[in-house]
Amino acid sequence: MQQVGKGNIALIASASNQTRNRDVEFPFRQDSDFYYLTGFSEADSLAVFIPGREQGEYILFCREFDEKKALWEGAHAGLEGATEHFEADDSFPIDDMSDILPGMLENKSKVYYPMGRDGDLDHQILEWITHIRKQSRTGVVAPGELVSLEHILHEMRLFKSAAELKLMRKAADVSCIAHKRAMQQCKAGMYEYQVEAEIVHEFMQQGLRYVAYPSIVAGGKNTCVLHYVENKDKLKKGDLLLIDAGVECDHYAADITRTFPISGKFSSAQKQLYQLVLDAQHAAIEQIFPGNPWNKAHDASVEVLTKGLVKLGLLKGRVAKLIKDEKYKQFYMHRIGHWLGMDVHDVGDYKLDDEWRLLEPGMVLTIEPGLYIPENCQTVDAKWRGIGIRIEDDILVTKQGYDILTHALVKEIDEIERLMQAS
Ligand code: GLY
Ligand code: MN
Ligand code: MN
Repeated sequence: MQQVGKGNIALIASASNQTRNRDVEFPFRQDSDFYYLTGFSEADSLAVFIPGREQGEYILFCREFDEKKALWEGAHAGLEGATEHFEADDSFPIDDMSDILPGMLENKSKVYYPMGRDGDLDHQILEWITHIRKQSRTGVVAPGELVSLEHILHEMRLFKSAAELKLMRKAADVSCIAHKRAMQQCKAGMYEYQVEAEIVHEFMQQGLRYVAYPSIVAGGKNTCVLHYVENKDKLKKGDLLLIDAGVECDHYAADITRTFPISGKFSSAQKQLYQLVLDAQHAAIEQIFPGNPWNKAHDASVEVLTKGLVKLGLLKGRVAKLIKDEKYKQFYMHRIGHWLGMDVHDVGDYKLDDEWRLLEPGMVLTIEPGLYIPENCQTVDAKWRGIGIRIEDDILVTKQGYDILTHALVKEIDEIERLMQAS
């Protein structure tokens, strides 16, 4: 409200229900920006913010309470609930939006809204403004500027409050428990989807119903497919299993990857590559502290991985030159991580004025180096082929440095082997 300023208006629409097939809908997930501002989890809603408006600055348009709807679909807040339980100053039926909103836009200079995200809303706003403009002879002034609301909002979302961190810690804790269960239950002969079931089972048993993104459960050569989500193959003795899975807690995500041997013991080649990725992850995490540019962690991982690949014979040449020529990219083709929050790939700029952004306390990010040696890679010894490894943790930047939100989950080689052999 402060940043939008008096004389201006901001508005944002909820997510809408999406059809899955015929009359079945996908589970509803509120728009993250909308939920961040309102805590309101219904579709067909629109929040309006008018700094300084005497009758109330925060207005929520939503569905009116409907007895019959409540019987079929369950509770919804209604207009009273919107003010009573969601702290809106004022509430109106969403069906009356087109009658009421144009009046709110009159005599405002700037309209802040998430531009270009919802074609219908974009169009609607322009129509309302055109309508106001036509009345200019009556003395009303139409807004002259449309401004992206995301710019303000996403900068706010990048810095997590204590309340947000509590949810993120819960999502991280539950995701750790689920990964541990997967390691304990995993056996050769199971199917990837059966391991996925163990993970989802634990999420739900712990009271969290929704995954933050589709779980990747990839055995053997599937470990080299970065976004493998088919999860349909049989697990083979001697192969690795890569699991990238995280749960959502009240709209906040965890994002964890672990890679472990299906039969509980790493082969010599697997062990060498795994230790290299782990060393790269440790080196990258050491680069997480306030004031350090965001890219330092990535650069640290590139250096460790390239040196290691030369040592193991997968790359040949001088390390500095291999890094300059980006030769590591054939085995490490993604970046070190991303912001994490309500969205798994969360909002927030990575660069400011073309410079990598400096880390600050309250930011949360993932650190997830990986190595993926394609099965058909003829330039490396056969023993390395078809091995994919990623290790991913969720890290909070603190005043002193960092706090690993997902620290509870084992990742050292001996820890993993011990856990798996004890189960
Ligand atoms: N799970 C998606 C990612 O790691 O970025
Ligand atoms: Mn992930
Ligand atoms: Mn990630």
